[in-house]
Amino acid sequence: MNPIAFITGATGGIGTQIAELFAERGYDLLLHTRRKKAVLDRFKADHPNTRVWILEADLHRDDVAKKMQETLKDVPRIDVFIHNAGLKIDDPIDAIKMDDFQAVMDVSITSMVTLLNVIVPIMKAQKSGRIIGISSGIGYQGRAENVSYATAKSALNGLISSLAKELGPYNITANAVAPGLIPTEMTAYYSDDQVESYRQNVPLRRLATPLDIAKACFFFASSEADFISGQTLFVNGGTQTH
Ligand SMILES: NC(=O)c1ccc[n+]([C@@H]2O[C@H](COP(=O)([O-])OP(=O)(O)OC[C@H]3O[C@@H](n4cnc5c(N)ncnc54)[C@H](OP(=O)(O)O)[C@@H]3O)[C@@H](O)[C@H]2O)c1
Repeated sequence: MNPIAFITGATGGIGTQIAELFAERGYDLLLHTRRKKAVLDRFKADHPNTRVWILEADLHRDDVAKKMQETLKDVPRIDVFIHNAGLKIDDPIDAIKMDDFQAVMDVSITSMVTLLNVIVPIMKAQKSGRIIGISSGIGYQGRAENVSYATAKSALNGLISSLAKELGPYNITANAVAPGLIPTEMTAYYSDDQVESYRQNVPLRRLATPLDIAKACFFFASSEADFISGQTLFVNGGTQTH
């Protein structure tokens, strides 16, 4: 039986590619979307050799735990959990709307804890599991007018470090992947000039691609990373080093 990966935000720019790569490399998939179930229905039809289950949930508004528990009645195991869903709303600190702040926190971090609350008992029973969070360099460096996003990603880093310590004895690893700038819906508001100026400062002189991020996730999920836990892999062409 194929291993099963659960990917949130599987209809986003990066999530779509993660799902594609894991399917290509022999995983069955539980895919989450907020509002693009038709896209996942198409993905399922296009991948007849991959078992695909779908979780449709607004991670800010819905009862996520309940929806996850219902979905899991059909899914035999969870080998890999990739929390990739994210939301970025930029505002100066003195203009932040608290519902926006809460939405960013809910999608990027609170829902991850809620989902882990349901998934970790399954991984403990399996005596194995891989948890991967999609972070951001902004969670380490901060960014002006990005308080909500930076706070959420910083919290994700703390969560990953703690999970590594708590779940290691159960043969469960937890790691993060921190992408550099990638043109997706999330970053569509960057002007061409901003993107080009960012690119020129990347030592490898190109932007990251969703495939770069998918490969890093696959590495953490693979046996190559058996003894790696609590780490963040920066996939940014050398822009930011730690
Ligand atoms: N792009 C970058 O430059 C960059 C850099 C560093 C880190 N990241 C991180 O990479 C991850 C993926 O980002 P992306 O660039 O692929 O962005 P994206 O294309 O905007 O995708 C975001 C995903 O999150 C989901 N989502 C947003 N709000 C949601 C909500 N309320 N409830 C449930 N799901 C929700 C979206 O669902 P729908 O598809 O249903 O709308 C979508 O699948 C994020 O965690 C982001 O912070 C991105």
